[in-house]
Amino acid sequence: MVDVILGLQWGDEGKGKIADYLTPRYDIVARFQGGPNAGHSLDFEGKKFVLNTVPSGIFHKGTLNIIGNGVVIDPVRLQEELGRIEHECPDYRDRLLVSRKAHLILPTHRILDAASEASKGEHKIGSTLRGIGPTYRDKTGRSGIRVGDSTEPGFMELYQKTVQEHLRQIQAYGYTAFDLAAEEEKFFASMDFIRQLQLVNSEYVINEAIHAGKKILAEGAQGSMLDVEFGSYPFVTSSVTLAGGVCNGLGVAPKHIGKIYGIFKAYCTRVGSGPFPTELNDDMGELLRKKGHEFGATTGRPRRTGWLDMVALQYTCMLNGVDELIMMKSDVLCGIDQLKVATAYNTPGGTTREVPANLCSAELKPIYQDFRGWPNELPHDKGYDALDSNFLTYVEFIEQTLKTPVRVISLGPERHKTIMR
Ligand code: GDP
Ligand code: IMO
Ligand code: MG
Repeated sequence: MVDVILGLQWGDEGKGKIADYLTPRYDIVARFQGGPNAGHSLDFEGKKFVLNTVPSGIFHKGTLNIIGNGVVIDPVRLQEELGRIEHECPDYRDRLLVSRKAHLILPTHRILDAASEASKGEHKIGSTLRGIGPTYRDKTGRSGIRVGDSTEPGFMELYQKTVQEHLRQIQAYGYTAFDLAAEEEKFFASMDFIRQLQLVNSEYVINEAIHAGKKILAEGAQGSMLDVEFGSYPFVTSSVTLAGGVCNGLGVAPKHIGKIYGIFKAYCTRVGSGPFPTELNDDMGELLRKKGHEFGATTGRPRRTGWLDMVALQYTCMLNGVDELIMMKSDVLCGIDQLKVATAYNTPGGTTREVPANLCSAELKPIYQDFRGWPNELPHDKGYDALDSNFLTYVEFIEQTLKTPVRVISLGPERHKTIMR
């Protein structure tokens, strides 16, 4: 069976922390989409790591980790990332498999990302500039290059042909702020490194594991509101971040999908441009950013902050078929007297509990329900029932609205500050 953990908001919900926390229950942890636009933070035994492409099960000795075919890989970033974790898991080569079908992010994909964003001016997506959009565009446009191509004789020819096409596009943008020769030198050095990793047909590995009764955790990146199909388009990423993405991104049939864990923060954040109905551009927003250390794990950009949005959460629970909820960062709300939760949107056409298709242009105002806050500290080591009653009211309201149980409560970045009910 393949269980899935994925974000229900705009990313950065805490997927890395919880995937790491849940890993002892699994034989395999696999990434199925996204790439180094992701930044998954792990914090255990006084050590902190941020993972971009490597699955969050890597720090557990008995666990196999797979970078699936749906992921896009920047060899330079992957080599750097593995360099950062090598001292903690010197045996990573034995426990990390890379799909031969995963697409490669080339230096020119990154340049194209920058050129495209620059051309959009104030309407830019706020991309992480990791080359994600252009790489997925080449994939669906049938002109991408896959990891497996790099061990074939025609690789250099394919590379040159692709780069020539990219340079034509970059020229059309009128973009010149790059040094391709320097980027290529790093790229080819890292390709030599990547070819030494275990490159496999991961769909076979995963299906054999399923048939052998092994347990697999598929780790999502980004969040459901950044999904290319159902997110706040066009302010989204370029992959399917929803549970359905697991089937394509790993080569797993729908009947093998087991439990879906949906993870959300007790409030909302978003990094990059695009609609954010409950955004707080005031002192409260600043307080949440400060207390929650809401700065991007990948790019360091300040994250936008706002109240919890139940309209968006209901939508993403529906799209993913969430079985169990995981609630993060409730400790950040400690000591705030009064909290607000959006339960519907007011629009010129009336009140709605649906996320409008035209979220980007819709005139909408959230309708809020007030909640009493909880005290300055929530104990993480005394169990769920010992938590403050105002906090329990907040959780129960979420459970009732989403008709889904909250199974895990996270009360700090560290692995041990987690309550499993
Ligand atoms: P991901 O992309 O979903 O893995 O999330 P990120 O790692 O980008 O962002 C989550 C941030 O919140 C990281 O800095 C985590 O260390 C931190 N974090 C995770 N859970 C908690 C929590 O329960 N409380 C607090 N205060 N911080 C948390
Ligand atoms: P994790 O896995 C938060 C956002 C970017 C931008 C948009 C498109 O850490 O939750 P892209 O580089 O994908 O073309 O950017 O998506 N974005 C994320 N925001 N967390 C992420 O990943 C994100 N990955 C992309 O900020 O708005
Ligand atoms: Mg993140």
